[in-house]
Amino acid sequence: MKKLEVIGPKKLKGTIKISGSKNSSLPILAATLLSKNKVKISNLPEVKDIETMILLLRSLGSNIKFNTKTKSLEINNKKNLKTFASYNLVKTMRAGILVLGPLLARFNKAKVSLPGGCAIGARPVDIHLKALSKLGVTYKITQGYIYAKAPKGLNGNIIKFPKISVGATENLIIAACLAKGKTILKNCAIEPEINDLVNFLRKMGCNIRWTGKRTAMIMGVKNLKELNYKVMFDRIEAGTYMIASALTEGDIKITNIQPKIIKTEIDILKKVGAIIKTKKNELRILGIRKNKNIKLITSPYPGFPTDLQAQLMVLLCKANGRSEITEKIFENRFMHASELNRMGAKIKILGNRSIIEGNVDFKGAELMATDLRASVSLILAALTAKGKSIINRIYHLDRGYENIEKKLRKVGARIKRIS
Ligand code: UD1
Repeated sequence: MKKLEVIGPKKLKGTIKISGSKNSSLPILAATLLSKNKVKISNLPEVKDIETMILLLRSLGSNIKFNTKTKSLEINNKKNLKTFASYNLVKTMRAGILVLGPLLARFNKAKVSLPGGCAIGARPVDIHLKALSKLGVTYKITQGYIYAKAPKGLNGNIIKFPKISVGATENLIIAACLAKGKTILKNCAIEPEINDLVNFLRKMGCNIRWTGKRTAMIMGVKNLKELNYKVMFDRIEAGTYMIASALTEGDIKITNIQPKIIKTEIDILKKVGAIIKTKKNELRILGIRKNKNIKLITSPYPGFPTDLQAQLMVLLCKANGRSEITEKIFENRFMHASELNRMGAKIKILGNRSIIEGNVDFKGAELMATDLRASVSLILAALTAKGKSIINRIYHLDRGYENIEKKLRKVGARIKRIS
Protein backbone atom coordinates (compact mmCIF):
# COMPACT_ATOMS: atom_id res chain seq x y z
CA MET A 1 0.00 0.00 0.00
CA LYS A 2 1.24 3.48 -0.88
CA LYS A 3 2.46 5.90 1.80
CA LEU A 4 3.64 9.46 1.84
CA GLU A 5 7.01 10.54 3.09
CA VAL A 6 7.33 14.15 4.21
CA ILE A 7 10.50 15.80 5.46
CA GLY A 8 10.12 19.04 7.37
CA PRO A 9 10.30 21.78 8.28
CA LYS A 10 10.12 23.85 5.11
CA LYS A 11 8.73 27.31 4.32
CA LEU A 12 6.48 26.98 1.28
CA LYS A 13 6.77 29.60 -1.44
CA GLY A 14 5.23 29.94 -4.90
CA THR A 15 1.89 29.63 -6.65
CA ILE A 16 -0.80 26.96 -6.31
CA LYS A 17 -3.65 26.72 -8.79
CA ILE A 18 -6.81 25.43 -7.18
CA SER A 19 -8.72 22.61 -8.91
CA GLY A 20 -12.43 22.28 -9.55
CA SER A 21 -14.60 21.48 -6.55
CA LYS A 22 -15.11 17.82 -5.70
CA ASN A 23 -18.22 18.52 -3.65
CA SER A 24 -19.73 20.54 -6.46
CA SER A 25 -18.81 18.08 -9.23
CA LEU A 26 -20.44 15.13 -7.46
CA PRO A 27 -24.05 16.46 -7.34
CA ILE A 28 -23.63 18.00 -10.81
CA LEU A 29 -22.58 14.63 -12.23
CA ALA A 30 -25.54 12.95 -10.48
CA ALA A 31 -27.90 15.61 -11.88
CA THR A 32 -26.87 14.74 -15.46
CA LEU A 33 -29.09 11.65 -15.03
CA LEU A 34 -32.12 13.95 -15.37
CA SER A 35 -31.48 14.75 -19.00
CA LYS A 36 -31.64 12.95 -22.35
CA ASN A 37 -29.58 15.73 -23.90
CA LYS A 38 -25.86 16.12 -24.20
CA VAL A 39 -24.12 17.67 -21.20
CA LYS A 40 -20.53 18.90 -21.18
CA ILE A 41 -18.75 19.56 -17.89
CA SER A 42 -15.29 21.03 -17.44
CA ASN A 43 -12.96 21.76 -14.51
CA LEU A 44 -13.70 18.42 -12.84
CA PRO A 45 -10.91 17.51 -10.40
CA GLU A 46 -9.02 14.30 -11.13
CA VAL A 47 -9.69 12.59 -7.81
CA LYS A 48 -10.92 9.16 -6.79
CA ASP A 49 -14.44 10.24 -5.76
CA ILE A 50 -15.07 11.72 -9.21
CA GLU A 51 -13.74 8.52 -10.83
CA THR A 52 -16.13 6.53 -8.62
CA MET A 53 -19.10 8.75 -9.56
CA ILE A 54 -18.24 8.33 -13.27
CA LEU A 55 -18.07 4.55 -12.79
CA LEU A 56 -21.44 4.70 -11.03
CA LEU A 57 -23.02 6.70 -13.87
CA ARG A 58 -21.52 4.30 -16.43
CA SER A 59 -22.91 1.33 -14.48
CA LEU A 60 -26.34 2.95 -14.87
CA GLY A 61 -25.80 3.15 -18.64
CA SER A 62 -24.53 6.74 -19.09
CA ASN A 63 -22.44 7.23 -22.17
CA ILE A 64 -19.44 9.26 -20.98
CA LYS A 65 -16.54 10.50 -23.06
CA PHE A 66 -13.53 12.16 -21.49
CA ASN A 67 -11.59 14.78 -23.41
CA THR A 68 -8.10 14.68 -21.92
CA LYS A 69 -7.03 17.87 -23.72
CA THR A 70 -9.74 20.09 -22.24
CA LYS A 71 -10.19 17.91 -19.14
CA SER A 72 -13.90 17.90 -19.80
CA LEU A 73 -16.59 15.23 -19.91
CA GLU A 74 -19.34 14.77 -22.41
CA ILE A 75 -22.33 12.81 -21.10
CA ASN A 76 -25.10 11.38 -23.18
CA ASN A 77 -28.11 9.75 -21.53
CA LYS A 78 -30.39 9.37 -24.54
CA LYS A 79 -31.26 5.74 -23.87
CA ASN A 80 -33.20 4.45 -20.90
CA LEU A 81 -30.89 3.96 -17.98
CA LYS A 82 -30.67 1.27 -15.34
CA THR A 83 -31.97 2.28 -11.94
CA PHE A 84 -29.75 0.09 -9.78
CA ALA A 85 -26.78 1.63 -7.93
CA SER A 86 -24.71 -1.21 -6.48
CA TYR A 87 -23.07 -1.48 -3.08
CA ASN A 88 -19.64 -1.90 -4.71
CA LEU A 89 -19.74 1.65 -6.06
CA VAL A 90 -21.74 3.46 -3.37
CA LYS A 91 -19.87 1.92 -0.40
CA THR A 92 -16.75 4.05 -0.76
CA MET A 93 -18.48 7.34 -1.35
CA ARG A 94 -21.44 8.81 0.49
CA ALA A 95 -22.30 11.06 -2.46
CA GLY A 96 -23.47 7.90 -4.27
CA ILE A 97 -26.85 8.53 -2.59
CA LEU A 98 -27.20 11.59 -4.87
CA VAL A 99 -28.28 9.37 -7.78
CA LEU A 100 -31.47 8.50 -5.88
CA GLY A 101 -33.25 11.83 -6.51
CA PRO A 102 -32.58 12.05 -10.27
CA LEU A 103 -33.37 8.36 -10.92
CA LEU A 104 -36.72 8.70 -9.15
CA ALA A 105 -37.46 11.95 -10.98
CA ARG A 106 -36.79 10.47 -14.40
CA PHE A 107 -37.74 6.79 -14.06
CA ASN A 108 -40.00 6.77 -10.96
CA LYS A 109 -38.00 3.97 -9.37
CA ALA A 110 -34.54 3.23 -8.01
CA LYS A 111 -32.64 0.65 -6.01
CA VAL A 112 -29.66 2.33 -4.37
CA SER A 113 -27.21 0.91 -1.85
CA LEU A 114 -26.95 2.67 1.49
CA PRO A 115 -23.80 4.80 1.21
CA GLY A 116 -20.34 4.62 2.76
CA GLY A 117 -17.79 7.44 2.92
CA CYS A 118 -15.49 8.72 5.66
CA ALA A 119 -15.87 7.15 9.10
CA ILE A 120 -16.59 10.48 10.75
CA GLY A 121 -19.98 9.70 12.22
CA ALA A 122 -23.22 7.82 11.68
CA ARG A 123 -24.16 9.80 8.54
CA PRO A 124 -27.68 8.42 7.98
CA VAL A 125 -29.85 9.28 4.94
CA ASP A 126 -33.18 9.58 6.78
CA ILE A 127 -33.58 13.27 5.88
CA HIS A 128 -33.17 12.49 2.15
CA LEU A 129 -35.73 9.68 2.35
CA LYS A 130 -38.36 11.51 4.42
CA ALA A 131 -38.17 14.51 2.11
CA LEU A 132 -38.45 12.35 -1.02
CA SER A 133 -41.51 10.64 0.46
CA LYS A 134 -43.18 14.08 0.58
CA LEU A 135 -42.81 14.19 -3.20
CA GLY A 136 -44.70 10.87 -3.49
CA VAL A 137 -41.90 8.33 -3.06
CA THR A 138 -42.46 5.14 -1.10
CA TYR A 139 -39.48 3.09 0.02
CA LYS A 140 -38.26 0.19 2.06
CA ILE A 141 -34.78 -0.66 3.22
CA THR A 142 -33.67 -4.28 3.09
CA GLN A 143 -30.24 -5.89 3.11
CA GLY A 144 -28.41 -2.61 2.76
CA TYR A 145 -30.46 -1.35 -0.18
CA ILE A 146 -33.07 1.39 -0.53
CA TYR A 147 -35.91 0.21 -2.78
CA ALA A 148 -37.79 3.34 -3.78
CA LYS A 149 -40.60 4.00 -6.20
CA ALA A 150 -43.05 6.73 -7.16
CA PRO A 151 -45.88 4.98 -9.02
CA LYS A 152 -47.64 8.29 -9.72
CA GLY A 153 -44.46 10.17 -10.49
CA LEU A 154 -43.04 12.94 -8.30
CA ASN A 155 -45.40 15.71 -7.22
CA GLY A 156 -44.34 19.08 -5.86
CA ASN A 157 -44.86 19.78 -2.15
CA ILE A 158 -43.67 22.00 0.71
CA ILE A 159 -40.80 20.42 2.59
CA LYS A 160 -38.99 21.76 5.64
CA PHE A 161 -35.74 19.95 6.38
CA PRO A 162 -35.53 19.13 10.11
CA LYS A 163 -31.78 19.81 10.01
CA ILE A 164 -29.51 21.51 7.50
CA SER A 165 -28.09 18.83 5.22
CA VAL A 166 -25.98 19.48 2.15
CA GLY A 167 -26.70 16.13 0.50
CA ALA A 168 -30.45 16.11 1.25
CA THR A 169 -30.80 19.65 -0.11
CA GLU A 170 -29.00 18.60 -3.30
CA ASN A 171 -30.97 15.37 -3.76
CA LEU A 172 -34.28 17.19 -3.31
CA ILE A 173 -33.43 20.15 -5.54
CA ILE A 174 -32.44 17.73 -8.32
CA ALA A 175 -35.54 15.55 -7.87
CA ALA A 176 -37.95 18.51 -7.74
CA CYS A 177 -36.73 19.80 -11.11
CA LEU A 178 -38.81 17.17 -12.92
CA ALA A 179 -41.63 16.86 -10.34
CA LYS A 180 -45.13 18.01 -11.30
CA GLY A 181 -45.87 21.52 -10.06
CA LYS A 182 -44.26 23.59 -7.37
CA THR A 183 -41.86 22.41 -4.66
CA ILE A 184 -40.79 24.65 -1.82
CA LEU A 185 -37.74 23.56 0.16
CA LYS A 186 -37.22 25.25 3.52
CA ASN A 187 -34.18 25.19 5.80
CA CYS A 188 -31.90 24.34 2.88
CA ALA A 189 -28.13 24.14 3.08
CA ILE A 190 -26.70 27.09 1.15
CA GLU A 191 -23.11 25.97 0.62
CA PRO A 192 -21.50 27.52 -2.49
CA GLU A 193 -21.48 24.03 -4.03
CA ILE A 194 -25.28 24.01 -3.83
CA ASN A 195 -25.39 27.31 -5.65
CA ASP A 196 -23.10 25.82 -8.28
CA LEU A 197 -25.51 22.89 -8.69
CA VAL A 198 -28.44 25.32 -8.96
CA ASN A 199 -26.58 27.33 -11.63
CA PHE A 200 -25.91 24.12 -13.54
CA LEU A 201 -29.56 23.02 -13.32
CA ARG A 202 -30.83 26.46 -14.39
CA LYS A 203 -28.53 26.39 -17.42
CA MET A 204 -30.00 22.96 -18.21
CA GLY A 205 -33.47 24.52 -18.27
CA CYS A 206 -34.70 23.90 -14.71
CA ASN A 207 -36.75 26.53 -12.92
CA ILE A 208 -35.25 27.19 -9.48
CA ARG A 209 -35.44 30.39 -7.43
CA TRP A 210 -34.18 31.31 -3.98
CA THR A 211 -37.16 32.99 -2.32
CA GLY A 212 -35.54 33.34 1.11
CA LYS A 213 -32.11 32.87 2.66
CA ARG A 214 -32.66 29.12 3.08
CA THR A 215 -35.79 28.66 0.94
CA ALA A 216 -35.82 27.44 -2.65
CA MET A 217 -38.80 27.32 -4.98
CA ILE A 218 -38.67 24.85 -7.84
CA MET A 219 -41.23 24.64 -10.63
CA GLY A 220 -41.06 21.28 -12.37
CA VAL A 221 -40.22 21.32 -16.09
CA LYS A 222 -40.63 18.71 -18.84
CA ASN A 223 -37.89 19.60 -21.28
CA LEU A 224 -34.22 20.13 -20.64
CA LYS A 225 -31.48 21.62 -22.79
CA GLU A 226 -27.97 20.73 -23.88
CA LEU A 227 -25.33 22.64 -21.94
CA ASN A 228 -21.70 23.29 -21.29
CA TYR A 229 -20.77 23.94 -17.67
CA LYS A 230 -17.58 24.81 -15.76
CA VAL A 231 -17.49 23.63 -12.16
CA MET A 232 -16.51 26.15 -9.43
CA PHE A 233 -13.20 26.02 -7.52
CA ASP A 234 -12.61 23.74 -4.55
CA ARG A 235 -12.86 26.00 -1.50
CA ILE A 236 -11.64 23.29 0.89
CA GLU A 237 -8.52 22.70 -1.20
CA ALA A 238 -7.96 26.48 -1.25
CA GLY A 239 -8.35 26.69 2.54
CA THR A 240 -5.96 23.77 3.04
CA TYR A 241 -3.15 25.45 1.08
CA MET A 242 -3.84 28.78 2.79
CA ILE A 243 -3.29 27.05 6.12
CA ALA A 244 -0.11 25.41 4.73
CA SER A 245 1.28 28.85 3.91
CA ALA A 246 0.41 30.35 7.29
CA LEU A 247 1.70 27.30 9.14
CA THR A 248 5.08 27.14 7.42
CA GLU A 249 5.44 30.94 7.52
CA GLY A 250 5.68 30.78 3.77
CA ASP A 251 4.38 32.93 0.93
CA ILE A 252 1.87 31.22 -1.35
CA LYS A 253 -0.26 32.74 -4.07
CA ILE A 254 -3.53 30.83 -4.44
CA THR A 255 -5.06 31.24 -7.90
CA ASN A 256 -8.24 30.21 -9.73
CA ILE A 257 -10.52 31.11 -6.79
CA GLN A 258 -13.09 33.71 -5.75
CA PRO A 259 -12.00 35.04 -2.35
CA LYS A 260 -15.46 36.43 -1.61
CA ILE A 261 -16.83 32.87 -1.42
CA ILE A 262 -14.32 31.97 1.30
CA LYS A 263 -14.69 35.15 3.37
CA THR A 264 -15.31 33.24 6.63
CA GLU A 265 -12.15 31.18 6.21
CA ILE A 266 -10.10 34.28 5.32
CA ASP A 267 -11.47 36.17 8.34
CA ILE A 268 -10.69 33.30 10.73
CA LEU A 269 -7.16 32.94 9.39
CA LYS A 270 -6.66 36.69 9.74
CA LYS A 271 -7.95 36.48 13.30
CA VAL A 272 -5.31 33.83 14.03
CA GLY A 273 -2.76 36.28 12.57
CA ALA A 274 -2.24 35.25 8.95
CA ILE A 275 -1.26 38.00 6.54
CA ILE A 276 -3.62 37.77 3.56
CA LYS A 277 -3.92 40.00 0.51
CA THR A 278 -6.90 39.33 -1.72
CA LYS A 279 -7.56 40.20 -5.36
CA LYS A 280 -10.60 39.37 -7.51
CA ASN A 281 -9.58 35.83 -8.48
CA GLU A 282 -6.60 35.08 -6.27
CA LEU A 283 -5.03 35.73 -2.91
CA ARG A 284 -1.61 35.71 -1.35
CA ILE A 285 -0.90 34.47 2.13
CA LEU A 286 2.38 35.70 3.54
CA GLY A 287 2.86 33.61 6.63
CA ILE A 288 1.64 34.66 10.01
CA ARG A 289 2.22 37.77 12.12
CA LYS A 290 1.33 36.49 15.56
CA ASN A 291 -0.31 33.09 15.92
CA LYS A 292 -3.26 33.92 18.23
CA ASN A 293 -5.36 31.33 20.02
CA ILE A 294 -9.09 31.33 19.17
CA LYS A 295 -12.39 29.65 19.96
CA LEU A 296 -14.27 28.28 16.96
CA ILE A 297 -17.43 26.32 16.20
CA THR A 298 -17.93 24.57 12.86
CA SER A 299 -21.31 25.23 11.27
CA PRO A 300 -23.12 25.13 7.93
CA TYR A 301 -22.22 27.80 5.35
CA PRO A 302 -21.64 30.71 5.80
CA GLY A 303 -20.05 29.37 9.01
CA PHE A 304 -16.61 27.80 9.27
CA PRO A 305 -16.61 24.46 7.37
CA THR A 306 -16.22 21.16 9.18
CA ASP A 307 -14.10 20.07 6.19
CA LEU A 308 -11.36 22.53 7.28
CA GLN A 309 -11.53 21.81 10.99
CA ALA A 310 -8.68 19.27 11.06
CA GLN A 311 -6.39 21.53 9.04
CA LEU A 312 -7.08 24.57 11.24
CA MET A 313 -6.42 22.49 14.35
CA VAL A 314 -2.83 21.96 13.18
CA LEU A 315 -2.34 25.73 12.89
CA LEU A 316 -3.84 26.26 16.36
CA CYS A 317 -1.33 23.80 17.84
CA LYS A 318 1.24 26.51 17.15
CA ALA A 319 -0.82 29.40 18.57
CA ASN A 320 0.29 31.42 21.58
CA GLY A 321 -2.09 29.87 24.08
CA ARG A 322 -5.01 27.49 24.37
CA SER A 323 -7.62 27.25 21.58
CA GLU A 324 -10.92 25.45 21.42
CA ILE A 325 -12.81 23.94 18.48
CA THR A 326 -16.35 22.65 18.82
CA GLU A 327 -17.43 20.29 16.02
CA LYS A 328 -21.14 20.77 15.40
CA ILE A 329 -21.64 18.86 12.13
CA PHE A 330 -20.21 15.36 12.66
CA GLU A 331 -19.95 13.55 15.98
CA ASN A 332 -16.72 11.67 15.35
CA ARG A 333 -14.50 14.09 13.53
CA PHE A 334 -11.49 14.40 15.82
CA MET A 335 -9.69 11.22 14.83
CA HIS A 336 -6.70 13.25 13.63
CA ALA A 337 -6.15 14.56 17.19
CA SER A 338 -4.57 11.39 18.55
CA GLU A 339 -2.24 11.17 15.53
CA LEU A 340 -1.27 14.84 15.97
CA ASN A 341 -0.60 14.12 19.64
CA ARG A 342 1.87 11.43 18.52
CA MET A 343 3.76 14.24 16.77
CA GLY A 344 3.90 16.32 19.95
CA ALA A 345 0.54 18.13 19.92
CA LYS A 346 -1.38 18.54 23.17
CA ILE A 347 -5.02 18.12 22.19
CA LYS A 348 -7.73 16.93 24.56
CA ILE A 349 -11.09 15.74 23.26
CA LEU A 350 -14.19 16.23 25.40
CA GLY A 351 -17.17 14.97 23.37
CA ASN A 352 -17.55 17.34 20.46
CA ARG A 353 -15.12 19.87 21.96
CA SER A 354 -11.37 19.87 21.50
CA ILE A 355 -8.96 21.81 23.68
CA ILE A 356 -5.77 22.60 21.82
CA GLU A 357 -2.69 23.73 23.74
CA GLY A 358 -0.47 26.02 21.69
CA ASN A 359 3.28 26.54 21.18
CA VAL A 360 3.84 23.01 19.92
CA ASP A 361 6.94 22.00 17.98
CA PHE A 362 5.87 19.04 15.89
CA LYS A 363 8.24 16.10 15.48
CA GLY A 364 8.12 13.71 12.53
CA ALA A 365 6.47 10.34 13.18
CA GLU A 366 4.85 7.37 11.43
CA LEU A 367 1.14 8.16 11.13
CA MET A 368 -2.17 6.69 10.08
CA ALA A 369 -4.72 8.63 8.02
CA THR A 370 -8.29 7.99 9.11
CA ASP A 371 -10.38 10.08 6.73
CA LEU A 372 -10.02 12.52 3.88
CA ARG A 373 -9.52 15.79 5.76
CA ALA A 374 -7.67 14.10 8.65
CA SER A 375 -5.07 12.79 6.19
CA VAL A 376 -4.34 16.24 4.86
CA SER A 377 -4.04 17.64 8.39
CA LEU A 378 -1.29 15.09 9.04
CA ILE A 379 0.55 16.27 5.93
CA LEU A 380 0.28 19.87 7.16
CA ALA A 381 1.73 18.95 10.55
CA ALA A 382 4.49 16.94 8.84
CA LEU A 383 5.42 19.94 6.67
CA THR A 384 6.29 21.93 9.77
CA ALA A 385 7.63 19.02 11.86
CA LYS A 386 11.28 18.38 12.47
CA GLY A 387 12.43 15.29 10.60
CA LYS A 388 10.74 12.59 8.60
CA SER A 389 7.06 11.62 8.76
CA ILE A 390 5.46 8.64 7.05
CA ILE A 391 1.72 8.80 6.46
CA ASN A 392 -0.08 5.50 5.90
CA ARG A 393 -3.49 4.84 4.32
CA ILE A 394 -3.28 7.73 1.89
CA TYR A 395 -6.09 6.31 -0.24
CA HIS A 396 -8.30 8.61 1.85
CA LEU A 397 -6.33 11.56 0.53
CA ASP A 398 -6.67 10.49 -3.08
CA ARG A 399 -10.46 10.67 -2.77
CA GLY A 400 -10.38 14.44 -2.67
CA TYR A 401 -7.05 16.17 -3.38
CA GLU A 402 -5.85 16.49 -6.98
CA ASN A 403 -2.08 16.10 -7.45
CA ILE A 404 -1.35 17.06 -3.86
CA GLU A 405 2.30 15.99 -3.86
CA LYS A 406 2.95 17.75 -7.16
CA LYS A 407 1.29 20.96 -5.97
CA LEU A 408 3.19 20.92 -2.67
CA ARG A 409 6.52 20.04 -4.31
CA LYS A 410 6.06 23.00 -6.66
CA VAL A 411 6.08 25.33 -3.65
CA GLY A 412 9.12 23.64 -2.13
CA ALA A 413 7.79 20.82 0.06
CA ARG A 414 9.84 17.67 0.42
CA ILE A 415 7.12 15.11 -0.09
CA LYS A 416 7.01 11.87 -2.07
CA ARG A 417 4.93 8.75 -2.47
CA ILE A 418 6.63 5.53 -1.40
CA SER A 419 5.54 1.87 -1.37
C1 UD1 B 1 -21.42 17.16 2.61
C2 UD1 B 1 -20.01 17.17 2.07
C3 UD1 B 1 -19.01 16.93 3.18
C4 UD1 B 1 -19.22 17.95 4.30
C5 UD1 B 1 -20.68 17.96 4.75
C6 UD1 B 1 -20.98 19.06 5.75
C7 UD1 B 1 -20.23 16.37 -0.21
C8 UD1 B 1 -20.00 15.29 -1.19
N1 UD1 B 1 -19.89 16.13 1.07
O1 UD1 B 1 -21.65 15.87 3.16
O2 UD1 B 1 -17.70 17.07 2.65
O3 UD1 B 1 -18.42 17.61 5.40
O4 UD1 B 1 -21.55 18.15 3.62
O5 UD1 B 1 -20.65 20.29 5.21
O6 UD1 B 1 -20.66 17.45 -0.56
N2 UD1 B 1 -27.63 13.89 8.46
C9 UD1 B 1 -28.64 13.12 8.98
N3 UD1 B 1 -29.52 12.54 8.12
C10 UD1 B 1 -29.44 12.70 6.76
C11 UD1 B 1 -28.41 13.51 6.25
C12 UD1 B 1 -27.52 14.10 7.12
O7 UD1 B 1 -28.74 12.94 10.19
O8 UD1 B 1 -30.28 12.15 6.03
C13 UD1 B 1 -26.67 14.53 9.39
C14 UD1 B 1 -25.23 14.03 9.17
O9 UD1 B 1 -24.99 12.84 9.87
C15 UD1 B 1 -24.43 15.21 9.68
C16 UD1 B 1 -25.28 16.41 9.29
O10 UD1 B 1 -26.60 15.91 9.08
O11 UD1 B 1 -24.34 15.15 11.08
C17 UD1 B 1 -24.83 17.14 8.05
O12 UD1 B 1 -24.62 16.23 7.00
P1 UD1 B 1 -24.77 16.63 5.48
O13 UD1 B 1 -24.78 18.11 5.36
O14 UD1 B 1 -25.89 15.86 4.89
O15 UD1 B 1 -23.39 16.10 4.87
P2 UD1 B 1 -23.14 15.39 3.49
O16 UD1 B 1 -24.06 15.91 2.46
O17 UD1 B 1 -23.04 13.93 3.70
